[in-house]
Amino acid sequence: MELIDAMKKRHSVRKYKADAVPDEAITELLMAARLAPSGSNLQPTRFVVIKSPEARARLSAATSLPFVTQAPVVLACCVDADSFGGLGTRMRELKEAGAFNDTPLADLDSKDYAQRRQMDKATAQGYLRLNAAIALEHVALRAADLGLGTCWVMMFDQGKAKEVLGLGDNYSIVALMPVGYADQDPAPRPRLELKDLLLKEL
Ligand SMILES: Cc1cc2nc3c(=O)[nH]c(=O)nc-3n(C[C@H](O)[C@H](O)[C@H](O)COP(=O)(O)O)c2cc1C
Repeated sequence: MELIDAMKKRHSVRKYKADAVPDEAITELLMAARLAPSGSNLQPTRFVVIKSPEARARLSAATSLPFVTQAPVVLACCVDADSFGGLGTRMRELKEAGAFNDTPLADLDSKDYAQRRQMDKATAQGYLRLNAAIALEHVALRAADLGLGTCWVMMFDQGKAKEVLGLGDNYSIVALMPVGYADQDPAPRPRLELKDLLLKEL
């Protein structure tokens, strides 16, 4: 499928068939997430795949939206704050892969960079979530490509969801994403006109 067709085909699906999603398709979704770019190639995004009816039933206590856990699969898209510990290594890998060749970054000292890149907690969380959003939209588009429906869901209780999923303090859940075969055929949702997006041309 052409990328533009996947973009047009992706709609938030809020009703799913009970039909199981093949494990291979879930692997394809995670592979799409893996290809996402991330700042300094930090790759802080992690996923919990929730498939069993028991686990989905427990997760349902963390969201007021029943359709989320009625889907046969739910992905919990998380970020790992400990990823920052690997920043020096990620930068060294990039350098060794030639990513910075012929740019001023070629002389960069990866250890020194990691030290200078320290952020306060709120800024760091925002940065991590930005990276996760890119990875999760890769998932949504690849799902559309595979004929699967998804929906971004941020209406959930962070504490309850983390408890159900057994996640440690370093993890934060960015969004839940139900995945399954759509049991509805959503019309394209309203969008602003192109002219409303374009502030100016300089
Ligand atoms: C960051 C983000 C958070 C969202 N959170 C929710 C949510 O909690 N519940 C929900 O039903 N839809 C949620 N959505 C889906 C949006 O409502 C939807 O993308 C928007 O209305 C446009 O519709 P479309 O996805 O069908 O194009 C979210 C979407 C994004 C990108």
